[in-house]
Amino acid sequence: MGEERDDKETKECEETLRSMIEVTQEDYKTFVGERSSVVIDGLEIKLGRSWTIKSYGPQNGYALERTTVWNFPDVGRWATHRGNYRGSWSPYIPRNLILKYTEKGEWILDQMMGSGTTLVEAKLLERNAIGLDINQNAVMVARDRLNFYYSPLFPDYVEPTIRTFCGDARNLDKITDESIDLIATHPPYAKLISYTRSGNVEDDISQLPFEQFITAMYEVAQESFRVLKPGKVCAILVSDARKHKHYVPVSTRVLQVFLDVGFILKEDIVKIQRNLKWTSEKWRGEGYDFYVIGHEHIFIFEKPKDKNEAKKYKFSAKWW
Ligand SMILES: C[S@@+](CC[C@H](N)C(=O)[O-])C[C@H]1O[C@@H](n2cnc3c(N)ncnc32)[C@H](O)[C@@H]1O
Repeated sequence: MGEERDDKETKECEETLRSMIEVTQEDYKTFVGERSSVVIDGLEIKLGRSWTIKSYGPQNGYALERTTVWNFPDVGRWATHRGNYRGSWSPYIPRNLILKYTEKGEWILDQMMGSGTTLVEAKLLERNAIGLDINQNAVMVARDRLNFYYSPLFPDYVEPTIRTFCGDARNLDKITDESIDLIATHPPYAKLISYTRSGNVEDDISQLPFEQFITAMYEVAQESFRVLKPGKVCAILVSDARKHKHYVPVSTRVLQVFLDVGFILKEDIVKIQRNLKWTSEKWRGEGYDFYVIGHEHIFIFEKPKDKNEAKKYKFSAKWW
């Protein structure tokens, strides 16, 4: 986390997109002093409870993933992880990414953090983190999930710095260029699942029509590229959809915008989707002439280390 960008540049961004506003532990305490729950997309989520934590990590001898097909044994309920808002962003995903691509003390960003699953994993694994969401209620849920005392078995545990913000993933104006070691995020789906169905959260990109959603993801990709250190990775989970019984290749379009801003594709991981209620797929496949979509993509992009690496992979590297 560095200093703010210069005034002129920040001002230009603010003309169209809102600025990041920090939400601290004190803000959270004030918030839960006044209310005991929030409602997101019709779902009531309780806040302010004291967590009883039974485990701090995966059980039953789970070993980290080794192939490009990820299929998790369970939903993942350790620490404060609860599945009621995070959708298909299982805590196994950030755990795998954090352990593979970062060292203790490095900086992780989830700029569409929802309930803060990535940040909870960062806290458990001693990584510093920045989380951001457009929905203030989601930020409070994330702070709630982070509100636990971690008394691990390791006496040398160092409490990391975790900062949360309300803001737009298309304008990371409080984050300096090339200051982040890993981005791990799960964007909302294009008009497939509304995370704010009431429509009262301005700038929620899940409300945009498909082509505008892709344009918004281009801006998200540009900001991701700017804040990531060269040679480091940005991982995003994206799902496809079915509309009028035809397959909408959302992931292919999102992949392309990340390549367009200069990223190199390092991995395309297929994640098996267990809970189909989290997709727009309303049909069970029986009696229809199409298959139920049962997978998602986790794209892992690398920001080229330098000009030579960018050229080697022959993708457009407009940032040079
Ligand atoms: C799929 S959810 C993320 C779930 C999350 N991984 C978790 O652990 O709960 C997508 C999130 O993106 C947020 N979002 C939508 N538009 C945004 C924007 N322009 N900037 C930042 N966050 C946004 C939504 O409010 C929602 O919380």
